[in-house]
Amino acid sequence: MSSPFNRRAAIWTGAVAAAAAAALAVWLVVVPDDPGPGDRFDPGAAYLDPSLPIAERVDDLLARMTIEEKAGQMTQAVVDAVGGSEDDIRDLGIGSLLNGGSDALHDTPEDWAAMIDGFQERALDSRLRIPLMYGLDAVHGNASLPGATVFPHNIGLGAAGDPGLAERTAAITAIETRVAGVHWTFSPCLCVARDSRWGRTFESFGEDPDLVGSMATVVNGYQGEDLSAATSVLATAKHFAGDGGTAYGSSTTEDYLLDQGVTELSEEELRRLHIAPFEDAIEAGVGSVMVSYSSNDLGDGPVKAHADEYLLTDVLRGELGFDGIVLSDWQAIDQISPDYNEAVRTSINAGIDMVMVPFDYRKFIDTLLEEVEAGNVSEDRVDDAVGRILTQKFALGLFEEPYADTSGADLVGSEEHRAVAREAAAASQVLLRNEDDLLPLSGEESVYVAGSGADALGRQLGGWSGAWQGTVEGVNEGTTILEGIGEVAGPGAEIRFSEDASEPIGAADVGVVVVAEDPYSEGVGDAGAGSHDMTLSEADAAAVDSVCAAADCVVIVVSGRPVELDGHLERVDALVAAWLPGSEGAGVADPLFGVEPYTGTLPVSWPRKVDDEPLNVGDPGYDPLFEFGFGLGT
Ligand code: BGC
Ligand code: BGC
Repeated sequence: MSSPFNRRAAIWTGAVAAAAAAALAVWLVVVPDDPGPGDRFDPGAAYLDPSLPIAERVDDLLARMTIEEKAGQMTQAVVDAVGGSEDDIRDLGIGSLLNGGSDALHDTPEDWAAMIDGFQERALDSRLRIPLMYGLDAVHGNASLPGATVFPHNIGLGAAGDPGLAERTAAITAIETRVAGVHWTFSPCLCVARDSRWGRTFESFGEDPDLVGSMATVVNGYQGEDLSAATSVLATAKHFAGDGGTAYGSSTTEDYLLDQGVTELSEEELRRLHIAPFEDAIEAGVGSVMVSYSSNDLGDGPVKAHADEYLLTDVLRGELGFDGIVLSDWQAIDQISPDYNEAVRTSINAGIDMVMVPFDYRKFIDTLLEEVEAGNVSEDRVDDAVGRILTQKFALGLFEEPYADTSGADLVGSEEHRAVAREAAAASQVLLRNEDDLLPLSGEESVYVAGSGADALGRQLGGWSGAWQGTVEGVNEGTTILEGIGEVAGPGAEIRFSEDASEPIGAADVGVVVVAEDPYSEGVGDAGAGSHDMTLSEADAAAVDSVCAAADCVVIVVSGRPVELDGHLERVDALVAAWLPGSEGAGVADPLFGVEPYTGTLPVSWPRKVDDEPLNVGDPGYDPLFEFGFGLGT
């Protein structure tokens, strides 16, 4: 029988048990599942020891991570989507952030760095203190930063045909990017543009895979000898593979005639034309590869690259031995299936390591976790993906130095850097006609300048400059071609300017008409998709007609690709393809006045008519206006 003492003891024991149960319940709610080994931050952990080899650090860290933390690492979110809920970076352990479109979010490197450091602080508040990587499209300089040096777009570097020069431009881009706190650039595009109607032709070094592959030197420029240096950024070879080979009108979306379309080729041709340049980039040690929105149809119907396990796993990782990060393109996995679970499962199993979600990152993480839980995505696949991501973070030195080093901020847009951009612009000029050796000009002439490209910085910068689509005015600092002409022509020259050639030409010795495309990016620039149709604007055509009827004339074409000149050339004495030369207009003026020779050659075939596209060297019946590789010297 129970004594009062026993009764009290029983009550006491019961109370203790109840309290313990309550505490356990609270603990279970707060810590829903045991994170496993090393559930607290351990400053002595092997992964924090910089003296250990990266592979060992990766293994140690992976072994400490929960599946939730791993799913977070595989996520790349756009800044606008985390805006206002920055704690998600810590709570979900988001692996990477980006901002789209080379958008100029801040004016100075210090302001950029402060923003990114703020995100980094959140990331370092997470249980294991894994730093994040910040990425953006610094594709021809860090054009997101208004004061940065902006180089010619790739098509111009292809025309210059100098891999060493291209590498030097990339090395400067790396400096001007990392100093703003950015670790990762989505460049180079190793796309081989086989149809100039494609709105991304200017992002391509040209139509020839050997030319494109030779420019993989830019990977060394971006990444340097040591990725952790304050002068290096992680590079991205994109878009794997077949983006430049899409067939006109093949895409399902009306606005996107070529971009994101279907490449119809034999596997052998796909490898020869579109995969080959990636081998050069992998050899150069490129740390990431971005997958193409496009699909490949090798004979059995189109397969989206993002869903293509053969392409991404067997070929890219297996055969080519790529061991860096395979990154998806912007919201691209959503195109695989309306069923998001299927989209996530298919893309991750195909071999994608990090998904540029970029908006609903929570949904991505939850869905990935569901798929792992259901056994549809293996933990091994997840570990492989996360291991690749962490490897690059260690290589970037982010565990030792997670915050920006802005001590080199003075170098942004410096004279030395701009001198290289000017050199690259000059080297990219292709002289296509030069009757009676009109060029170079002596600098003693009276010069009448006209055309929409003469005094519009944004037109010479093109897309991916301060904004996704670029802007006509340009948000970057630089010198227009007109200003460059004024600077380079001798003091004896008299320069007059009338954009639409409405001012009387009078007794000018020579007219220079700078015709131009308006800026665009991606499918918006597909000829036939809208207003960018590869023909001269009425105003530019009229300026050519009136100026060339009245004086000796030079036509300079500022464009991301060849434009149709049929019917406009009869009275033109000299013709120059200037591509999208970047922030240094004086580079266009240098060969015009003989300060530098013309040495550029066409990286793409120049058609007589837009409808002659696709047109590539080696085609049966090849009959361009100017052939691939053509370029006069001075
Ligand atoms: C483009 C990529 C780019 C990404 C991020 C995509 O739409 O296809 O080339 O890197 O956006 O801006
Ligand atoms: C972004 C770009 C991206 C594009 C995709 C834009 O809003 O700024 O970075 O490439 O969307 O279509």
